[in-house]
Amino acid sequence: MSSFLCSRTREILAWVATGSAIPAFALLGWAHAPAALAEEVASTKSFYASSFSQMPSVAGLTTIGRALFFDPSLSASGRIACSGCHDPRFAYGPPPGLSLAGPGKQNRSHAGFRATPSLRYLQATPRFAEHRFDESGDESIDQGPSGGHMWDGRADTLHDQALLPLLSPSEMANKRPEDLVAKARRATYAAQFRAVFGDDVFDNNERAFKAILLALEVFQQSPADFYPYSSRYDAWLRGRGRLSEQELRGLAIFNDSRKGNCASCHPSQVRNGALPQFTDYGYAALGVPRNAAIPANADPRFFDLGLCGPQRKDLSDHHEYCGMFKVPTLRNVAVRREFFHNGKFSDLERSVQFYAKRDTAPERWYARLRRTAATFDDLPPALQANVNRDPPFGRKRGEQSPISDEEIGDVIAFLRTLTDADISVPPMAATGTRETGHGSPIE
Ligand code: HEC
Ligand code: HEC
Repeated sequence: MSSFLCSRTREILAWVATGSAIPAFALLGWAHAPAALAEEVASTKSFYASSFSQMPSVAGLTTIGRALFFDPSLSASGRIACSGCHDPRFAYGPPPGLSLAGPGKQNRSHAGFRATPSLRYLQATPRFAEHRFDESGDESIDQGPSGGHMWDGRADTLHDQALLPLLSPSEMANKRPEDLVAKARRATYAAQFRAVFGDDVFDNNERAFKAILLALEVFQQSPADFYPYSSRYDAWLRGRGRLSEQELRGLAIFNDSRKGNCASCHPSQVRNGALPQFTDYGYAALGVPRNAAIPANADPRFFDLGLCGPQRKDLSDHHEYCGMFKVPTLRNVAVRREFFHNGKFSDLERSVQFYAKRDTAPERWYARLRRTAATFDDLPPALQANVNRDPPFGRKRGEQSPISDEEIGDVIAFLRTLTDADISVPPMAATGTRETGHGSPIE
């Protein structure tokens, strides 16, 4: 785990040292710059080519990256830092009250339509690939698209490079890299920039912009902040902690392929000595109900189809991918207040109920069902066949759900063990959480 960081950080520093192009995926930009701007940035040959007069240290980069991450003056409005949406108190996910991906009224015209993901446990995210062949299972089976950053993995395509939250209209909204550099030059931490990258770091806009991106990237790789593995479940896996009977029941339901079947997409077990990430980095269409609170959804012709657009452009003719979104990690999921790509649900209980009862009680989720026969209301009828029907889905309307109400409570109790130690969650409504002395599967 931490060895991963080291090799990744070493790799980045090697690019810096040689002055060669830093692949776009290495930069944590990934967010949502308009395509034209992104292309302009990417096509500026010298953009990544300029090297620093001084080799930056990991510690120095982390310090500056942290300062940048928390600095609201870097946004066009001067009011929103990365941390304004990716709040460390909520595992670098959205703080309560933050509306979907928008810094609020000041930016209404750019109001986003996606929920803000947690930035914890992204360190092992592979590059986006349209076809993945599982090394551990049958290597001949194409598991389909996987990897990449953002809900649609678009940050890793060759077409869509250097997508930077700093320049995205729905995030920091700077118009040009130069604007950003000017702000960093005036910032209180400008002296640290010079100390880490060399006195001439601000002499050249491209070099300074690269320094900013690099610092943010390396900060977001820092283990203590971004992948502490300090949850109660981690302690239990290491044989140093206990889970209650209810939590263990929840884990069993989570893993059971005839019950929750959750682990088939959100792996929960230690593999090759590595602690689980609770995502297989794959994609699935779950048929999450349409969220009427999203301004773009006022237009009945608008659909966020994930892999096949509109944010991502390169797979738009792959209708078999429409409606698919990336499997998010479930670590720290209990501190979230917006769930799924469109933030449709605001509590964990309803999110798990959705899995249990999507198909057995569809009228609970899809308002339109009362009027028409169409089910999944956030997908055009022609694309509804893409929706996943494996367990826990796939039963008929009126049949018994594979997960009972009591079991839903157990699963939630288990999910709450995935919260890192530095994050405080409001306690769950009284449920039996008797401690038992279960041992651990690994040392
Ligand atoms: C206004 C809210 C907002 C701000 C400010 C913001 N982000 Fe984001 N961020 C989002 C949303 C929403 C997404 C998901 C967008 C999508 O999937 O289309 C996201 C996605 C990301 C991701 C991809 C995570 C993954 O692997 O899926 C990273 C990394 C990220 N942001 C980093 C940053 C950094 C660094 C900053 C500051 C420079 C920043 N963000 C500022 C809302 C925000
Ligand atoms: C077929 C793969 C698959 C299975 C099985 C699965 N999930 Fe998911 N899960 C996903 C995908 C994909 C998303 C994101 C979908 C979206 O936003 O449209 C998701 C999202 C979630 C979220 C929202 C997290 C967030 O950050 O917004 C929760 C909670 C969740 N899953 C819990 C579970 C539980 C509990 C189970 C078992 C009952 C389960 N999942 C089974 C693929 C799966």
